[in-house]
Amino acid sequence: MKKNIAIIGGQWGDEGKGKIVDYIAENIDVVLRAQGGANAGHTVIVNGKKFIFHLIPSGIIHKNVKAVIGNGMVLDLAELINEIKFLNKNGIETAGRLFVSNRAHITLPFHKYIDQQGERSSKEKKIGTTGRGIGPTYMDKIARVGIRIADLYERETLREKLEANIARVNEIYGKFYGAIPFSYHEIAGELAAYADFIKPYVADTVSLIKGFEEQELSFLLEGAQATLLDVDFGTYPYVTSSNSSIGGLFTGSGFNPFLLNRSIGIFKAYCTRVGEGPFPTEQTGEIGEFLQEKGGEFGSTTGRPRRCGFFDLVSARYSCMVNGFSDIAITKLDVLSGLGEIPVCVSYEIDGKKIDEFPSQIKLLAKVKPVYKRFEGWKEDISNIKDFDRLPSQAREYIRYIESELKTRVSLIATGPERESLIER
Ligand code: GDP
Ligand code: IMO
Ligand code: MG
Repeated sequence: MKKNIAIIGGQWGDEGKGKIVDYIAENIDVVLRAQGGANAGHTVIVNGKKFIFHLIPSGIIHKNVKAVIGNGMVLDLAELINEIKFLNKNGIETAGRLFVSNRAHITLPFHKYIDQQGERSSKEKKIGTTGRGIGPTYMDKIARVGIRIADLYERETLREKLEANIARVNEIYGKFYGAIPFSYHEIAGELAAYADFIKPYVADTVSLIKGFEEQELSFLLEGAQATLLDVDFGTYPYVTSSNSSIGGLFTGSGFNPFLLNRSIGIFKAYCTRVGEGPFPTEQTGEIGEFLQEKGGEFGSTTGRPRRCGFFDLVSARYSCMVNGFSDIAITKLDVLSGLGEIPVCVSYEIDGKKIDEFPSQIKLLAKVKPVYKRFEGWKEDISNIKDFDRLPSQAREYIRYIESELKTRVSLIATGPERESLIER
């Protein structure tokens, strides 16, 4: 029987999910995304060519894979169309194998505006969002006023909803942020053009997925963002606005949870975070710069520098607990080559008192001091190693320690950005 696999970010995003999806999708029939939107940036490098996916599941690179954009996603249609065009230009066909849920919500220009103004305004707490309108689109979804893909093809519904939304935005946000009024005609005109373009891709993905399940096709569920950015389990309020841990993959697609065979947590060999919010193991000095430079830690979506720090077992244990990972992939192990010693955070302390649990209170998390266990580093370049046993002994010890502390097997180790730089264990 073919296997159904989920891929989930274990930290604060950008763990290398795109690369692992690309590797696994080679033997998969259907890749789906179920949450988030164009805030995601998933990098795949094939034969030196770089693809950064924001909305379309990364597995589409493999020509036999079907790609599904699930109901839980929020779609900036201009972005979606750009991505489709970019893929087509690069020889990747989308016709007949990309499916967009008719229940997915649409990110509109005022969502991006509200997001960006919120970040700029002194009246609001800065989250450090990607500015892609994600929070405001999900706000409208939950408030039951959002516009869905299906609405594009029902003129009266679309007009009513859009008019009401624009009136509300202009009235409320116009006052609050001093906004320039949004025009119904401008937005409606844009939407009409987008609706025509995407029409061949729109599907009832719930019954489509059901049909694929009945045909016993294999699925790869591609998580975006990550567990510590999950709106319920993450470092709230410094999170994204969707469920980016395991549950979101089911509510956002309709995939039958009982058919999942494996869930892989993706962790970097160290930690990074983009945007605001506490980061207990953050290194702002020389080591932080070393990781940022060697790891190329600049956002795939916004280009912002990522904050860097050491591996954090406290948050990683929490992430394993939330998701129940069957196994783990450790990426970017190559980036650690050259460090004299590699500290790993084993617990937190507040005022000299040890705490093992990942705090729910953000102010507490901001106060914790990491307790480190130090590992000996290695100097060798490991990017061409294909066999776990050929890794320097220090690197093996590092991986084995993480594995034993997380009580979860490390089954994949990425040692470079290219498709080939991977160790399967
Ligand atoms: P995602 O959002 O989880 O898919 O990750 P991103 O694509 O945003 O960021 C990961 C970055 O690290 C990308 O630039 C990848 O090309 C790169 N990358 C992935 N795995 C490895 C690895 O094992 N080693 C190195 N050096 N780079 C990697
Ligand atoms: P991938 O899928 C890293 C972060 C933002 C910000 C917070 C909220 O590539 O791993 P949002 O725009 O979602 O409202 O921003 O979440 N964030 C990400 N960080 N990787 C991502 O996606 C992210 N998507 C959102 O930086 O801190
Ligand atoms: Mg990314």
